[in-house]
Amino acid sequence: MKTSACVLRSMTQEDVPAYGRMLKRAFNTWYWNHGWGQDYFQCDERELGIFWDIYRQISPGHCFVAVEPDSGALMGACFYHPREHHVTLGIMAVEPDHFRRGVGKQLVNRIIEFTESHGYAALRLVGSACNMNSFSLYNRAGFVPRVTYQDMVVRVPASGLEQSSPLDARVRGASVTDVAAIKSLELEISGICREGDYRFCIDNPVGCLHASVLDANGAGLSGFAASVRHPALHMIGPAFARTEPEMLALLLKELDRFRGEAVLVAIPMDRRQLVETLYRCGAVNVETHLFQVRGKFQPFQGVNLPSFLPETG
Ligand SMILES: CC(C)(COP(=O)(O)OP(=O)(O)OC[C@H]1O[C@@H](n2cnc3c(N)ncnc32)[C@H](O)[C@@H]1OP(=O)(O)O)[C@@H](O)C(=O)NCCC(=O)NCCS
Repeated sequence: MKTSACVLRSMTQEDVPAYGRMLKRAFNTWYWNHGWGQDYFQCDERELGIFWDIYRQISPGHCFVAVEPDSGALMGACFYHPREHHVTLGIMAVEPDHFRRGVGKQLVNRIIEFTESHGYAALRLVGSACNMNSFSLYNRAGFVPRVTYQDMVVRVPASGLEQSSPLDARVRGASVTDVAAIKSLELEISGICREGDYRFCIDNPVGCLHASVLDANGAGLSGFAASVRHPALHMIGPAFARTEPEMLALLLKELDRFRGEAVLVAIPMDRRQLVETLYRCGAVNVETHLFQVRGKFQPFQGVNLPSFLPETG
């Protein structure tokens, strides 16, 4: 494999237009060449600046770009998200003219170096199980697949879904006063927390996010779910709940935001109640993903749904 020479530096606001173009070309080229028959990102490339917008506001300064040494042209970029106990990697993309030339590997290695030198116990990501280029990139770098997800697209009728949950009454919109309880619930279920992310989803300064919580029977919370509704991405997550019926109640609540639209949800493959309910809602399978960890991992003590924005689980 020929390696492309590149310089790595932090992304700046000036990179954003080229970043949007590169991100769109990277995903659309890869998925077209692998039989999707349609664009992965169907929005205008300028809409893809939402990744920069959201991540810059939650925790600024955490995206490496790879540029050509002479021209400074963008060759690739990868965000990373340091949180209280871990770092998450993503979204990763390389300019198609430089695929298979070691650019992705240099970005991953730099983020591993950051993770280790700052003493974090784990680097985590959710990567495609269909895309062998990204699978190999992460697997060779030492990531271990831990959970498999099926990505399901649900088209929510304009009149809403017919499904309901007996736990509906326990679901409500999240408020900033819930943040401490959300944090302790995610620590219990997933062994991580990300206070700034919950707060950001609840405050919603970008206008495309929403968050719900599910009250526990006694005190505190038993579940949390966020969703993003933006031209770049309609997706439910991050979400976590102690039990599958509780997750279902949260999921139905967030799905209702997408009346008349399609939305993506990544469901753990062994959670058959969720899978079967979504099939009854007309869901189709579009992809499969792997939750992967390099370092310490606590198996989930409940149900965990990832998101690609904000991607910090
Ligand atoms: C996935 C992607 C980032 C990979 O970037 P890249 O710069 O082409 O990857 P690299 O050239 O650095 O390859 C990384 C490693 O994977 C290996 N690799 C890639 N494809 C492979 C395959 N099919 N089988 C075995 N190894 C493979 C390479 O050989 C290299 O390892 P090595 O240097 O130890 O030999 C790029 O294809 C891309 O942007 N795709 C579209 C967007 C995307 O899928 N993003 C990730 C979402 S999960």
